[in-house]
Amino acid sequence: MEVELTSTRGIAARGIAPAGASKGSREAIDLRDGGPAYGGFGVSRALGNVNGPIAAAILGRDAADQEELDRALIELDGAPNKSRLGGNAMIATSMAALRLAAESEHLPLWRHLAAGAAVRLPLPEIQIFGGGAHAGGRIDIQDFLVIPVKAQSFAEALAMTADVYRAAGAQMSSRGRRYGVADEGGWWPAFDSNEEGLETLTRSIEAAGYGGGEVVISLDIAASEFYRDGRYRLSAEGRDFDPGDWLRVIAGWSSRFPIASIEDPFAEDDAEGMRAVTAALGDRVQIVGDDLLATNAARVRRAAEHAECNAALIKPNQAGTITETRQALEAARQAGFATILSARSGETEDVTIAHLAVGWNAGQLKVGSFARSERMAKWNELLRIEESLGSAAVFAGAAALSASRRPAP
Ligand code: PGA
Ligand code: ZN
Repeated sequence: MEVELTSTRGIAARGIAPAGASKGSREAIDLRDGGPAYGGFGVSRALGNVNGPIAAAILGRDAADQEELDRALIELDGAPNKSRLGGNAMIATSMAALRLAAESEHLPLWRHLAAGAAVRLPLPEIQIFGGGAHAGGRIDIQDFLVIPVKAQSFAEALAMTADVYRAAGAQMSSRGRRYGVADEGGWWPAFDSNEEGLETLTRSIEAAGYGGGEVVISLDIAASEFYRDGRYRLSAEGRDFDPGDWLRVIAGWSSRFPIASIEDPFAEDDAEGMRAVTAALGDRVQIVGDDLLATNAARVRRAAEHAECNAALIKPNQAGTITETRQALEAARQAGFATILSARSGETEDVTIAHLAVGWNAGQLKVGSFARSERMAKWNELLRIEESLGSAAVFAGAAALSASRRPAP
């Protein structure tokens, strides 16, 4: 859903809320109509909230005072999970206000956000194969991604990723297994096992000429999706594991394949599993909390206290306002976590997160694959930002990864 705000000087700006298929249970609620129309996904109630109570609460306010505006939204909603107004209504409004403030200053959004502080172009992690809830459960692991750790610029990082994406497509073609793409643009995962996906990805990196550690693997396991009754159930392989054995599987993968980052390796409710994997692998692998943290500052602080991960995925619509998104990012930074701005599986042409990644100096960005325009829109926006900075552009590079197998620059 899209929200447009217009200033008294006639400047207009919009924000578009994305949506996720593999939502964490602690995210801001994505308010949908239910019922028969639009398969239940209609947003007329959420739009009614924007044009009714939200408009009444924010019209006349200063768009540049983001915190005040977001506080008004939070108070008006009054529910911890934003179920009354809808997290979708709130984040679209909050993003529109942010963009309006930047437009009113005639500044690119990233520059408005940075407010003079140093910025870096983020290190991208880019999906090569989809999976999990983004590919009809065809394979259990949700994202097979790569990180071009030896790239010296954002543009070079994209070029290297494009090589791997093409090589992976050729690998699938040569085996008669190229069937199109999954939700985020990664190749459809026509594999018999999760390991076959890892092997194919490793081969694709080598076939692209980057087998020497120039490009490494990142996984979003999204394990909450297949955790039931205390066990991790791989439906693609018909196997299931208790948390101890599951940790051995993950550790085995990370020793056999060049894996530098793993997101949600254990379920959001298995804090003990997250602690164990961080203790076992966290000195060399970035362990990212997504469902676990739900872009919530208090949850980030708690996870840090118990060493449940060493990096935070930051998704604005999980938080529901720009201010709370920023607070979660700051809490992660204070905890010494790496930070990764992230898109959703249900994405739009809105490029705000590309600007947040630069302007907040997040270090890393995850947007899905190297196909489909809602993904390319973000990558292209970053190319524009890098180009506009010219020789002043600084690329975050491998140093942005948390305690990891990052190679020397
Ligand atoms: P989602 O996937 O948007 O479906 O939650 C993205 C992710 O899990 O990181
Ligand atoms: Zn995730």
